[in-house]
Amino acid sequence: MENKSLVSIAELSKEKILYLLEMARLFEENPNRKILDGKVVATLFFEPSTRTRLSFETAANRLGARVIGFTDPKVTSSSKGETLKDTIMMVSNYADIIVMRHFLEGAARYASEVAPVPIINAGDGANQHPSQTMLDLYSIYKTQGTLENLNIYLVGDLKYGRTVHSLLMAMRHFNPTFHFIAPEELKMPEEYKIYCRQHNIHYVEHTDFNEEVIAGADILYMTRVQRERFTDLMEYERVKDVYILKNSMLASARPNLRILHPLPRVNEIAYDVDNCDKAYYFQQAHNGLFARQALICDCLGITMDEVKNDKTILV
Ligand code: CP
Repeated sequence: MENKSLVSIAELSKEKILYLLEMARLFEENPNRKILDGKVVATLFFEPSTRTRLSFETAANRLGARVIGFTDPKVTSSSKGETLKDTIMMVSNYADIIVMRHFLEGAARYASEVAPVPIINAGDGANQHPSQTMLDLYSIYKTQGTLENLNIYLVGDLKYGRTVHSLLMAMRHFNPTFHFIAPEELKMPEEYKIYCRQHNIHYVEHTDFNEEVIAGADILYMTRVQRERFTDLMEYERVKDVYILKNSMLASARPNLRILHPLPRVNEIAYDVDNCDKAYYFQQAHNGLFARQALICDCLGITMDEVKNDKTILV
């Protein structure tokens, strides 16, 4: 069987991204099916998660698959010294596909090279989070009606935030203008700015975050300051509350503005934003179910035609 892993969003062509978004739309129409009957999906989470793990597991369950896995490596034999390679080889004996989150950058790539079954990267350190990007793209498309020519403002921890790294790579196909809003300590890393220049992605950098700055945004993508990635916790304390979005800052916002956040949030979006019609982060997380149904099916070799002609839909 061809190993159709998803390790990095950079591997996906524009056509493939649009194909997966269309498949997600079909799953949103009918999320309850038996198209994965007989399959086993493993979710291996070496780092904490709420949305990613539960939405992958819900995606699998709603399509008729069974789910195995762990949420804490301390309860597995990796705590006895078993290597990642051996863990992956073992789980491949039991499951048809592995969804893995790991604290090490490059762990998903390594797993995909040793595993006989597909690997979906559910986040590797500060590197990539491609399934998050697919649900982000789906959310952007649903709210803006297009992915083309948008002004996307990324706010907060652009250094360690893997979701923003994946998103800017995916958007290279759609002529975006990015605004990177971060304090000096959390600026977008040089390697991603080089990527932007190589792919003709326009970007502007800011350190101020206020009503005037965000007035031009179509998408305001807030991020959490990633405490777990800091080696110096004093530095975390200095920057953790540097930007807090409040409802009052949205007075000059465009009518089509939508606020996204991969979640979890800590302080960076005040609760008074939640009831604003521009807040979309909870619906965004809901969209993750459909995007991840599409990803699991695609990695298992299930085609769009099979999804369209699926007779297993449960009503
Ligand atoms: N967005 C995201 O990755 O959330 P979790 O860490 O809860 O999975």
